[in-house]
Amino acid sequence: MSYNNLLTEREGLILKITINRPKQLNALNKETIQELNHALDTANKDQDVGVVIVTGSGEKAFVAGADIKEFADFSINEGTELAAKGQDLLFNFIQNLKKPVIAAINGFALGGGLELTMSCHIRVASTNARMGLPETSLGVIPGYGGTQRLAQLIGKGRAMEMIFTADMVKAERAYEIGLVNHIVSPEELTQKCEEIASKICRNSPMAIASAICSVNAGFVANLDGLKIEIEEFGKCFGTSDFKEGTSAFLEKRKANFN
Ligand code: CAA
Repeated sequence: MSYNNLLTEREGLILKITINRPKQLNALNKETIQELNHALDTANKDQDVGVVIVTGSGEKAFVAGADIKEFADFSINEGTELAAKGQDLLFNFIQNLKKPVIAAINGFALGGGLELTMSCHIRVASTNARMGLPETSLGVIPGYGGTQRLAQLIGKGRAMEMIFTADMVKAERAYEIGLVNHIVSPEELTQKCEEIASKICRNSPMAIASAICSVNAGFVANLDGLKIEIEEFGKCFGTSDFKEGTSAFLEKRKANFN
């Protein structure tokens, strides 16, 4: 499948998705959100994909936010629908994907761009990354999960300050406050993400899907994370991956889950 706004490339079990609107700093318009949903849904169902890496095209931006030109004259109802649809099709969709998604942050990650990285399971930033939620400077608030996920990642006080001031943070500060897992030079960004992805691909895809589900459950208000963990733990005992993983250990060989 070819896309108007995405480039996809698979090497082994790693799928790289590049958001490709460099002239608009990869801003997320409606079509790009739909294409990302399609590409991720396809990856989710594909046994030959173990990990997804998401990045932006060009050297300047990961994603500079939702496409401001598209929503500038929206009404209350249209604004509500923009946030609801976006969360459903992309941001919550990524968070709950069965495969780990790594954000390779190669420049500006602002508004919906930072929200996209925060929906991913792991974030790696290059030294030129600049991150922020500037929505209040436009007269709106983050609508793609930013008010929730930023507070979960860096704490309520710091999240409120970033949202109220609309300030950007540099990669070093983002690392200090736990917003990104690693910082590397721009030249090393892809390699670092692939290194993490390769390590993940050695482990059980079924167990990883259960781990994503269990960790996420702890952040849903009406769910008991520990209860979900018990259920997911139990389910693992019925999987072929569990049989392979434990047999391999007892037979003193490396497990082969693929
Ligand atoms: N939407 C649409 N177009 C955008 C865009 C966005 N979010 N961000 C950048 N662009 C476009 C610019 O309009 C410009 O296009 P033209 O050449 O056609 O004018 C092009 O990308 C290059 O941008 P700049 O000339 O502004 O580049 P710069 O280097 O001077 O500045 C920047 C870079 C600081 C990232 C600046 O572009 C900027 O502030 N962008 C907007 C960031 C923002 O406010 N994001 C939040 C969006 S709201 C949101 O995301 C809501 C939500 O949660 C749902």
